[in-house]
Amino acid sequence: VPVNPRVAVYGANGRMGRMVTAEVVAAGLPLVAAISARADGRDAGDLAGIGPIGVVTRAPSAEALEHADVVIDFSSPQGLSQLIPLLGGRALVSGTTGLAAADFDRLADCANVGPVLWAANFSTGVTVLLDLAARAARALPAYDVEIVEMHHNQKRDAPSGTALALGRAIAAARGHSLADHAKHGREGLSDPRPSGEIGFHALRGGDVVGDHQIWLAGPGERVLLGHVATSRRTFAAGAVHAARRLAGRAPGRYELAALLGLTEDR
Ligand SMILES: NC(=O)c1ccc[n+]([C@@H]2O[C@H](COP(=O)([O-])OP(=O)(O)OC[C@H]3O[C@@H](n4cnc5c(N)ncnc54)[C@H](OP(=O)(O)O)[C@@H]3O)[C@@H](O)[C@H]2O)c1
Repeated sequence: VPVNPRVAVYGANGRMGRMVTAEVVAAGLPLVAAISARADGRDAGDLAGIGPIGVVTRAPSAEALEHADVVIDFSSPQGLSQLIPLLGGRALVSGTTGLAAADFDRLADCANVGPVLWAANFSTGVTVLLDLAARAARALPAYDVEIVEMHHNQKRDAPSGTALALGRAIAAARGHSLADHAKHGREGLSDPRPSGEIGFHALRGGDVVGDHQIWLAGPGERVLLGHVATSRRTFAAGAVHAARRLAGRAPGRYELAALLGLTEDR
């Protein structure tokens, strides 16, 4: 496992990509490529607000990834599907959300030839919250679960990847499949809420980095679990930390909680 893996940032011109560039540099890792769809040759350090670092943004190509041990991707589902064939077994850390089943299949194929870590949320807090939510759902099996999230007004996918990951963790803890129990928004007249349903509600506005609330409602009480991200830096730092730990590992799928040492031995 390389101690200081060489990193390529994919989606380097984006809100997250810029933050990742700054975190890679702050972590003292060599940044060898900055890739973006509309690569305009701007210095990635300038984009990240840390001053020039001598790495210009380039369009996606296998050549652009040539010197990288690990690629950190925060782009779009289309961007990720364009990246996968270029990887050639390099380690991939991806935080891109809004993925369809076919995109997850591509990630699984990719894990046959290289180490792959995808996570809907790279913050330490949400990684722990996933576990807390599963535990609460198991301990309160009859309580109704509603997940509310809020994000900035530029976000494209809804509900957020984090909300879906929380829903998946809760459904799995109850032995359910999320697809059979998810309910996205409510309007008009309907039958009473079926038990086991998991409701999702997506709020959009302002510059909210990412808020998530999980309600577990039972007779005479409600439990509220939540997380508030106040800076994208928390996601970027988590992704860079994961990249450092993933590079050089055997092909396969890796989980963030295990990689960060956040799983409890129970
Ligand atoms: N897992 C987490 O912790 C976490 C946290 C926050 C956000 N996210 C997710 O990360 C993703 C990016 O979010 P963001 O807010 O940074 O988005 P953004 O500001 O829109 O940035 C997206 C970046 O991806 C690039 N890109 C898009 N399509 C591409 C393609 N086909 N080929 C190459 N590059 C492409 C864009 O390049 P150009 O600018 O050159 O067009 C841009 O640099 C979203 O899916 C978001 O939900 C995940």
